[in-house]
Amino acid sequence: MIGLIWQGIKDLGLKTLWNSLQYQLRQRRYRTETAAVALEDYRRPGTVIDMSRDGRTVTLQTVSGAYAITVLAPNLFRVRFRPDGDFVPPFSYAITKPDAVWPPCDFTVVTTDAAVTIRTQRLTCRVDRESGRLTFLDPHGNVISEEAEGIAFHPAGPVVCRRRIQPDEHFYGLGERAFGLDLRGRRYETWHTDPQTYQLEQDPIHLCIPVLVGLHSQGQQGYAILFDNTFRGHFDLGATDQDVASFEAEGGEMRYYFIYGPTLASILARYVELTGRTPLPPRWMLGYHQCRWSYYPDERVRKLAADFRHTYRVPCDAIYLDIHYMDGYRCFTWHPQRFPDPAGLIADLHTQGFKVVVIIDPGIKADHRYWVCQSGLENDVFCKLPDGRLLRGPVWPGDCYFPDFTHPRVRTWWGELCRSLVEIGVDGFWNDMNEPAVFGPLGTTFYDVTRHDLDGRSGDHREAHNVYGMQMVRATVEGLKRLRPDERPVCITRSGWAGVQRYALGWTGDNESKWDSLWLTMPMVMNLGLCGLAHTGPDIGGFNGVASGELFTRWLQMGVFFPLMRAHTNFHSPDQEPWSWGEPYLSINRRFIELRYRLLPYLYTAFWQCHQTGAPIVRPLMWAYQDDEATHTLDDQFLCGDNLLVAPLIAADADRRTVYLPAGTWYDFWSDEPIVGPAHISVEASLERIPVFVRAGAIIPMGPAMSYVDEQPVERLELHVYPAAGSGQALLYEDDGESNAFQEGEYRLTRFTLIATGISPTALEIRRATESHYTQACDSFEVVIHGVHHLPLEIVLDGETVAPSQCAVDSDGHSVRLSVGPFRCLRFVWTE
Ligand code: GLC
Repeated sequence: MIGLIWQGIKDLGLKTLWNSLQYQLRQRRYRTETAAVALEDYRRPGTVIDMSRDGRTVTLQTVSGAYAITVLAPNLFRVRFRPDGDFVPPFSYAITKPDAVWPPCDFTVVTTDAAVTIRTQRLTCRVDRESGRLTFLDPHGNVISEEAEGIAFHPAGPVVCRRRIQPDEHFYGLGERAFGLDLRGRRYETWHTDPQTYQLEQDPIHLCIPVLVGLHSQGQQGYAILFDNTFRGHFDLGATDQDVASFEAEGGEMRYYFIYGPTLASILARYVELTGRTPLPPRWMLGYHQCRWSYYPDERVRKLAADFRHTYRVPCDAIYLDIHYMDGYRCFTWHPQRFPDPAGLIADLHTQGFKVVVIIDPGIKADHRYWVCQSGLENDVFCKLPDGRLLRGPVWPGDCYFPDFTHPRVRTWWGELCRSLVEIGVDGFWNDMNEPAVFGPLGTTFYDVTRHDLDGRSGDHREAHNVYGMQMVRATVEGLKRLRPDERPVCITRSGWAGVQRYALGWTGDNESKWDSLWLTMPMVMNLGLCGLAHTGPDIGGFNGVASGELFTRWLQMGVFFPLMRAHTNFHSPDQEPWSWGEPYLSINRRFIELRYRLLPYLYTAFWQCHQTGAPIVRPLMWAYQDDEATHTLDDQFLCGDNLLVAPLIAADADRRTVYLPAGTWYDFWSDEPIVGPAHISVEASLERIPVFVRAGAIIPMGPAMSYVDEQPVERLELHVYPAAGSGQALLYEDDGESNAFQEGEYRLTRFTLIATGISPTALEIRRATESHYTQACDSFEVVIHGVHHLPLEIVLDGETVAPSQCAVDSDGHSVRLSVGPFRCLRFVWTE
């Protein structure tokens, strides 16, 4: 304890600690007590007494309120219940697609004595007239999800919906949770919290998303519920009553969106249509990124750059500056001694092919001589208490004021502040502490009574808390779009909410340099992806604590396959750079970072698919094998894009692990050995290896092992072909990787079709068709066919015979390669 206090004094200073203490005392005073409400005090909708239909909405009058059920799409219904029955158009930070924009959708409403039934081709909602309870059914009448006691509300504000858990139901989603993949059996809070290092099973942490995905009936039924209510809430997934899953909030409206799959892919496609798509990031965001708290002064940053480029020759695309670049932690300033010439530094880093990302927190130091504070006071942007005084709370710079990002005018003001950094060359913004966090133990945030604009609707922090961080990154991104309209904005956030994916990518916050933290990254990133936030990744190596060389290397190997590949560490931890542990780690780390770069064409295509369809980049195996129950709780391996299965090592001193391969044939990425699933296999994985398998029928496009920003464009692509019996499809997406020209058609999408007679085929054909046009697209290919050991007898390229001697068998003896130009059909034959 004394140690902790001493550390606190050293880190923050006595004054900030004292302010923090006072703040916490006041926080108690200002906490709005939500009545401890007993279930019997809740009221229920009661019997349905009247029904009317207007356009897409069916209104059901009940004894104590009304439902408005709106059919937005054949598999998407919105359910609202209000005791006052007053259904003004809903305001939502999560939703981007207004009702009027959804295409017309046919549905019928049938009323009987027993029920009112609303039916589309894909989904039925049956409202029991007597109880007022809702059941969702598939077109065959099977239950997808049904209410237990159903909806209830309390006169003091709380609302709840209690649903029956299906016998073999698994639950996923809910944003960033420090639990395994299947969330069933526990209670979770939706109230973003800065945990200052989270442990396994700690809840809540930085980024909650009120999206629950349910899967049951041996994977035949899949659905999602978006509880569109930003108040502090809970999801209880069978913790209190093992047969009941409930979601509740301390205030606001009972409003949820029900999306029927049954496949996870169709759920996500609909969900991102509703809440917004992940933008295509600039390609440098897919490179390796190096961060620590903090690289300073500027000479240290220059040395880091030189270490990457010259001393250790490790590819890297971005260097991050944490809080020490600022003058006394004042946002939008530079420390005059540590960074006397930031523009010069950034220009030099750009010349060496690095991008620069800087941290910006929401707290603005309450210092009336500081320009941002002055501007904020003049423009009346800071959050206030009910008596009109400004909210003040301690964060890194000491006492701060906090912009009210729920006000459109404040967001514009903030966006304009970004100009100062954009003009000196900063490439990306890293928005931290935006739960929002105020110094103090767990749960210290703004006082409940703090006032917010809430986009003109006005309310307090209980309603604004969960969207504060999302509105901060919205302000940043909207500013960046105004300042650099031709570039793709980059903003990384620690907190967010449903829909945050349309503004920012996330990282999984303050984890630990421990093996269970490494493992936890997988279910976390998978569940975030199932909530639409697909672009995420952990602090590789762990944030708090001291990573061993082995832990870092294992984490990095896994990070190769994550959307964001960034190493980061705490101020109190030793450096975590790829060379920090010497050999053999340096060489292994370099090889894996090179592998990341080689995989960029594949990964970038996966990002494009995500942008188009909502399919996450990192997916649980059940994404592709939903009817295989062995995948429903599997959270120590994952799919990366369409065709790679990755099974990281998650324990110290391990050189072997069990891997589950679902049905079909899989090629060992390293040895090309084909293995037939479903099977649990034991795989050898010394430190130089991470178990990776390629789905048979795949084509994996790979590029050179070099950093994207320093050497472009790519001159030759390798097409790694993994034959299977029958036909397979693969995609390759290319564009300039930085501008928005792709939105005007400046891109090329290649569809490959692979037809083969089997593994080690006697004949194989690759067809290649392109869509749209991008001038710099790569037209030179090295086709590498895996799992074959001999030169073909015959090669036909677009109708012309090619001498088999043009091919070469690789030195490992289990693949054959051929260089070709922009072909349309390439055929190989091995036997007569
Ligand atoms: C928070 C962030 C961490 C950052 C630190 C200092 O703990 O989560 O990534 O390094 O603040 O800014």
